[in-house]
Amino acid sequence: MLIDLCELSPSYVRSIAPYQPGKPISELAREMGLDEASIVKLASNENPRGIGPRTRAAIEAAIGEVARYPDGNGFELKQALAKRYGVDMAGIVLGNGSNDVLELVALAFLGPGRAAVYSQHCFAVYPLATQARGARSIAVPARNFGHDLDAMAKAIDDETYVAWIANPNNPTGTFARSEEVEAFLRRVPERVLVVIDEAYNEYLTPELKADSTRWLKRHPNVVITRTFSKAYGLAGLRVGYALAHPSVADVMNRVRQPFNVNSIALAAAVAALDDMEFVARSYADNLQGLRQLEEGARRLGLDFIPSHGNFITVRVGKANEIFRRLLKRGVIVRPVGGGYQLPEHLRITVGTAAENDKFLSALAASLKE
Ligand SMILES: Cc1ncc(COP(=O)(O)O)c(C=O)c1O
Repeated sequence: MLIDLCELSPSYVRSIAPYQPGKPISELAREMGLDEASIVKLASNENPRGIGPRTRAAIEAAIGEVARYPDGNGFELKQALAKRYGVDMAGIVLGNGSNDVLELVALAFLGPGRAAVYSQHCFAVYPLATQARGARSIAVPARNFGHDLDAMAKAIDDETYVAWIANPNNPTGTFARSEEVEAFLRRVPERVLVVIDEAYNEYLTPELKADSTRWLKRHPNVVITRTFSKAYGLAGLRVGYALAHPSVADVMNRVRQPFNVNSIALAAAVAALDDMEFVARSYADNLQGLRQLEEGARRLGLDFIPSHGNFITVRVGKANEIFRRLLKRGVIVRPVGGGYQLPEHLRITVGTAAENDKFLSALAASLKE
């Protein structure tokens, strides 16, 4: 072979650093010769509660129909979402996880000669999706680990078409209050789509939870994205959605694969959306787990970033080394150096009380080693 096949792809694609997912349990078990059942994975912000019985029943019922293609329009799920949030069905876009929906925004609205603005320490998919379209990235330094919305508004230039905002943000768990978001929305030109990624919305305490869907009515350039992967416990099935102006949803739907959400995922999401009790329990467990991890970090004399999500990011010093020591003890967490630019921190997903305990003991031993 005389040519490097990699060179055939555009330079902006070749320069993408691959997304680093949390280490799977099976991989660590193989590498360390550990029993899978003894491993605790707190690396991907999943729901330790699993799924509720009603969702399980919907999944089992949907298995019988897998020989058929799913409803490419996701009518039932869109109808349920439209009713829950008081929005027009034509303004909903369904995705194979909300990650898919974020990619659809980039696919539909970014390209060479355009730019997207995002914050330092933001969710890794924003730079990835921006770069994959050949668009320019405008990364704005964080303020107290969170989005500096004032600086982000100032950084918008004539080529900017998308602003990515995770609220709460992953991996920092920081949250921008609704007054701050509203001030940002008033300043941003209408041409700029403001993606408000609310993957962790269900974990917000009631006093912080704003009805962000009302922004859609006042600002047609707002796109809200949410997911069934976190509080609803469906990370493995992959379902997410965007709420947007129907014209924005229309373009996103044109670049969407016709059957991007599978039939089991659609059925599970409809059932999960209805199971308010499950989400309420997930919320309550999470709050307790967060407090447990915060207290544990304090006991160990470690700083942490106060979190509004289902994870907490703790400053441990030599994070990669501590990560490896934790792996030896059968605990998987997430280092957030590299693209996240937090080389001294580790991100820990809130697990069950027993999992959190195991992590804290393993962390204490790893720090002493
Ligand atoms: C801020 C944020 N947005 C979106 C996602 C994507 O999640 P999913 O594709 O599972 O909906 C994640 C996943 O961790 C996230 O942290």
